[in-house]
Amino acid sequence: MPQPEFLPIQWKSTFLSLLDQRVLPGKKEFLQIQTMEETIVAIREMAVRGAPAIAITGIFGITLGAKKKSGNSNPVDVDFLIKQVFESRPTAVNLSFALKEAKKRVEGVSHWETIAKLWESYALEMMVQDLKANQTLGKNGADLFPKDQNEFHIITHCNTGALATAGHGTALGVIRSLRDQGKKVVVYADETRPFLQGSRLTAFEMMEEGIECYIITDGMSGWLMNHRKIDAVLVGCDRVATNGDTANKIGTYNLAIVAYEHKVPFYVCATKDSFDLKLKTGDEIPIEMRKESEVTQFDFLKNEEGNFLFPEGKTSPIGARALNPSFDITKAKFIKNFITELGCFVPEEISFRLKNV
Ligand code: MRU
Repeated sequence: MPQPEFLPIQWKSTFLSLLDQRVLPGKKEFLQIQTMEETIVAIREMAVRGAPAIAITGIFGITLGAKKKSGNSNPVDVDFLIKQVFESRPTAVNLSFALKEAKKRVEGVSHWETIAKLWESYALEMMVQDLKANQTLGKNGADLFPKDQNEFHIITHCNTGALATAGHGTALGVIRSLRDQGKKVVVYADETRPFLQGSRLTAFEMMEEGIECYIITDGMSGWLMNHRKIDAVLVGCDRVATNGDTANKIGTYNLAIVAYEHKVPFYVCATKDSFDLKLKTGDEIPIEMRKESEVTQFDFLKNEEGNFLFPEGKTSPIGARALNPSFDITKAKFIKNFITELGCFVPEEISFRLKNV
């Protein structure tokens, strides 16, 4: 777990301190977010990312928005703030659930000061709840692994750790829990092109904790499953439809198919806030399309001196076009189990397990 001074989301009463994940691992730099508008930019530009962390940050964002309006005697319009934050990133459902709850909590309240206080406590409550849920989920996941085996080799994709949540993590939470049970875990972290959450963030978290970790490029998992015994693939998610189709970072679907072919169990780790029972299948999940330049050049990444990693930025011919869907949908049939704080279950059980929570 990151030390308190490196907690990625820190509320400081008048501002939000966010560990800037765009410059990790080169620099541990915090952004001082003073306004809702700055919060939206931080989410959109991925200074903070990962479905649960985005949701918590979003609620601190509307808190800052409401604080700014304190003393304003115009009629209260919370929808205006909520809508702006809602639009920051579309695929992960956690933010939209959190904003709905935030709206419910201030129904009938007519003072911005009170609204700001209510939202502030909700965001702080979310942090506590998310950490607790991740710890339970982690233990539930660890319990799926054979008790009489002491070493596990696990492939993961993107970053699902303490950086993406309020702490512990979802897929990385299961890995942490296995390690806490005294097991040796060897992690293979998909690099996760184009934003490199695997090589920059997952490898960073695993190294900080002394968990053995090898970065692989996204296309290497087939080779790995052919040449080493892989016990499981663990990934997080951004939204799960009722039939179990799951949106997660681009490349997850390919990984799931390779795992299926090799009979390696593929687990999706998620808290209940990632299940969207309004949607029947993954076809209804909106997929965020991001800038072509994230694929054609590396100049969104800077080195320790603050200089671009590639001086010219380009890793492709000038004028080359690219596609950049940020997420894909893994079909339910490739998923062995969902690992959640409510227990572990197969895709067919989703509506039953989630209907009353
Ligand atoms: O674009 P990102 O970095 O926000 O995407 C993150 C992921 O896809 C994670 O796997 C997901 O949000 C789960 S994080 C616990």
